[in-house]
Amino acid sequence: MATVTNAAPAARGGAEVYEYDLIKWFTVASIVWGVIGMLVGVYIASELAWPALNAGVPEITFGRLRPVHTNLVIFGFGGNALIATSFYVVQRTCQARLWGSSSVHHTLFWLWQLILVVGVASLVAGHSQSREYAEFPLAIDVLILIAWTAYFAIYFGTILRRSQPHIYVANWFYLAFILATAILHLFNNLQIPYSLWGSYSVFSGTQDAMTQWWYGHNVVGFILTVGFLGMMYYFVPKQAGRPVYSYRLSIVHFWALSFLYMWVGAHHLHWTALPDWVSTLAAAFSILLLLPSWGGMINGIMTLSGAWEKLRTDPIILFLITALAFYGMSTFEGPMLSLKSVNALSHYTDWTIGHVHSGALGWVAMITIGSFYHLVPRLWGKPLHSTRLVFVHFWLATIGIVLYIVALWVAGVGQGLMLRAFDQYGNLAYTFVETVAFLHIPYVVRALGGAIFLVGFVLMAYNFYRTIFADERLTEKERGVEVATA
Ligand code: HEM
Ligand code: HEM
Repeated sequence: MATVTNAAPAARGGAEVYEYDLIKWFTVASIVWGVIGMLVGVYIASELAWPALNAGVPEITFGRLRPVHTNLVIFGFGGNALIATSFYVVQRTCQARLWGSSSVHHTLFWLWQLILVVGVASLVAGHSQSREYAEFPLAIDVLILIAWTAYFAIYFGTILRRSQPHIYVANWFYLAFILATAILHLFNNLQIPYSLWGSYSVFSGTQDAMTQWWYGHNVVGFILTVGFLGMMYYFVPKQAGRPVYSYRLSIVHFWALSFLYMWVGAHHLHWTALPDWVSTLAAAFSILLLLPSWGGMINGIMTLSGAWEKLRTDPIILFLITALAFYGMSTFEGPMLSLKSVNALSHYTDWTIGHVHSGALGWVAMITIGSFYHLVPRLWGKPLHSTRLVFVHFWLATIGIVLYIVALWVAGVGQGLMLRAFDQYGNLAYTFVETVAFLHIPYVVRALGGAIFLVGFVLMAYNFYRTIFADERLTEKERGVEVATA
């Protein structure tokens, strides 16, 4: 295996150690899917405000496009971003080149994109497993399993060939995300096929619902949280130019999340046929989750201590720290929503969707965007085209998110209160259609917020385009390139 030095390539006569081309591909794919997925998000948000937009065409109705949105943003935008950054982080922190041949790497890349294209096409055509975040038909689930095994092999193979004795904590988070996702995917897709596109779950009734929400919440826990924490633990210290505030706390954060997340899925099924004690157990574990989540948030934010002035001058740090603030906010809101009494009001309302997007846009998208701004110049060896555009993007993203979640707090709490209001005779005070009419203005504001967020995201794509095709180059020191001696 090649050894790593900091000497310039020409001086050593060696090639660059790290595999960056594959990471470039995954980064571009993440941005492309992000634009498409969020465009679909804005469209379905607009359909909710103006239902005539579905034009009576089944393929573009809300019911078909909603899972297109969720799958594209989670697995297209998020999945590609996680694979890209994990391959970057594992190589740099282990000081080893990515394991596997170039053909394995490229097969993984194209297989993952194929899964998304065929999966989305099947959803638009009306084929769905009807399991949230696992809607793709069984045939595609098998392809996912193959791709995921290759991903694990490449990632773990790189850890095994590391030239550093220590495995940096970001890799623990990435590895937990990869392993947990494999287990969740496998069990939630235990299905019996009856045709190429159709299958039935081997579970039924309450067990089926339990399995689905054990999966569903751990998609949130291990993909949308633990995976992105891997990103956070590398890119926040790197961009801040400071070590993680408390390495010990990061380890506690890791083990506590890994232990607690697996228990909480049943908080999605409060007040259903589920045994009451299961609900209570899930709520108790959800409350416990607040502690490590906030510990991790504080650890991330405090990494900036001694360099707070960067918040004024460095818009990339602004993205990363704001992401942590939203991580804190959504992991405070989540445990509150898990209380049975609060859930009685929030469930079946837009409050849940607001919570989802304070996590999805505020935490997941913001931490990814911040990481990409750090990553892209280093991958391509070019200075970022415009820092001012990053500031503009930051404010568009923040304003977009605030409009989105505030509108849905109003919608959700209002809707919940209207649905449970009685008049003096004990009749429902509002008809259902009155609650729908009440939602119109918040829905318009949400669609506007989403559109503003998307405009910022497209600006980022433009900024990267100008960066990549510019002539100016970063020096190897600025880029942080190491070279092989053999
Ligand atoms: C431009 C930005 C976005 C807009 C306008 C948007 C809009 C929407 C809409 C309208 C829904 C359906 C809500 C409903 O059923 O009432 C939805 C659901 C969802 N979106 Fe987004 N979205 C955006 C970005 C994202 C991103 C970046 C992610 C993830 C990283 C995400 C994850 C989800 C999830 C998980 C759901 C399902 C929520 C649930 O079932 O409770 N969204 N989104
Ligand atoms: C301590 C952390 C968290 C806890 C305890 C928690 C708890 C909850 C609860 C109780 C619900 C509502 C369930 C229902 O009424 O059906 C929910 C929904 C949701 N949360 Fe969180 N949450 C947390 C953090 C997050 C984060 C960081 C994200 C990131 C994106 C997130 C994404 C979601 C999604 C996507 C849903 C909607 C699931 C669905 O119905 O389709 N949560 N969460």
